[in-house]
Amino acid sequence: LLQSNYKVVVLDNLVNSSESSIRRVEEISGRRIEFFKGDIRDYNFLDGVFSSQKFDAVLHFAGLKAVGEAINEPIKYYENNVLGSIQLFKVMQKYNTKSIIFSSSATVYGNSNNSPLKEDMPTGIPTNPYGRSKLVIENILADLYVSDPQWCITSLRYFNPVGAHKSGLIGEDPRGLPNNLLPFISQTAVGIHEKMFVFGNDYDTPDGTGIRDYIHVMDLASGHIRALEKYISKGGVHTINLGTGIGHSVLEVIHAFETVSAKTIPYDIIDRRPGDVGVCYADPSKANLELDWVANRGLIEMCKDTWRWQSQKLLL
Ligand code: UFG
Repeated sequence: LLQSNYKVVVLDNLVNSSESSIRRVEEISGRRIEFFKGDIRDYNFLDGVFSSQKFDAVLHFAGLKAVGEAINEPIKYYENNVLGSIQLFKVMQKYNTKSIIFSSSATVYGNSNNSPLKEDMPTGIPTNPYGRSKLVIENILADLYVSDPQWCITSLRYFNPVGAHKSGLIGEDPRGLPNNLLPFISQTAVGIHEKMFVFGNDYDTPDGTGIRDYIHVMDLASGHIRALEKYISKGGVHTINLGTGIGHSVLEVIHAFETVSAKTIPYDIIDRRPGDVGVCYADPSKANLELDWVANRGLIEMCKDTWRWQSQKLLL
């Protein structure tokens, strides 16, 4: 956003992030970010920020996203993701900022649709409270538009975001044990874990391990800019997949990471993880056509950038 000359204000409660990443974004871009530390569930906090200046649009990323944690602590997920979103929409309504880009997820397709997943497929029943919270928010936004067509709503359905900024200065740094594949692989490569676990090799896929549509976070970022530019003043409800359209198996990802890092990643194959599907990848043609956007960074680049971030991070 900064590199595209937008003025950016960031709100974050830093529950799974660090203010130093904001400073590093400033370092990379040479531009300043106004930062407010606070919680999306806190209406008065949001009201204070919105009363201080006029916003053209909101990019809403403020969600908890760990599937296992969501199963153990559903109220926390509904409270943060759903209640927090409602507080945000109320404040946006009050201050007449009615353009929003919402971070949705491929999880809203549920388990019953076959890949490639297309936006016009019926949403399924997500397999966990995290996924259900995303679907509820998509539905609330659609209802908001019906009640007031001045809203301009874009739900971006992310597939599996990975990678890091080329500089190696900013990237994913999950607190505690990572849930997702790439952080686990990269932490194993630097020796934080002795080995990793592959969840099942009996899926109906060429090597038996699960297939996902990994998308470089920089491609994901550019998808947001395109969506903002295309839809900001257009009105309507827009739903767009952000994926590459290409699936990679768990073993392919491990081997790609071994190649770029020149490390051996020890792994054991264990049982399937409950709730996982065998294959999940996008049909990205709507984003290609409507946003003139295409994800152009491949698996090797995703692994290289993750590796640069992970290996450099130890020195920061
Ligand atoms: N996997 C392993 N070992 C691990 C971690 C993951 O084998 O230690 C496998 C999984 O079984 C899956 C693949 O690697 O086949 C990717 O798993 P991730 O946990 O990285 O990602 P998911 O596809 O399960 O989850 C993603 C998002 C969620 C979203 C979900 C459903 O991270 O936010 O897709 O759309 F809910």
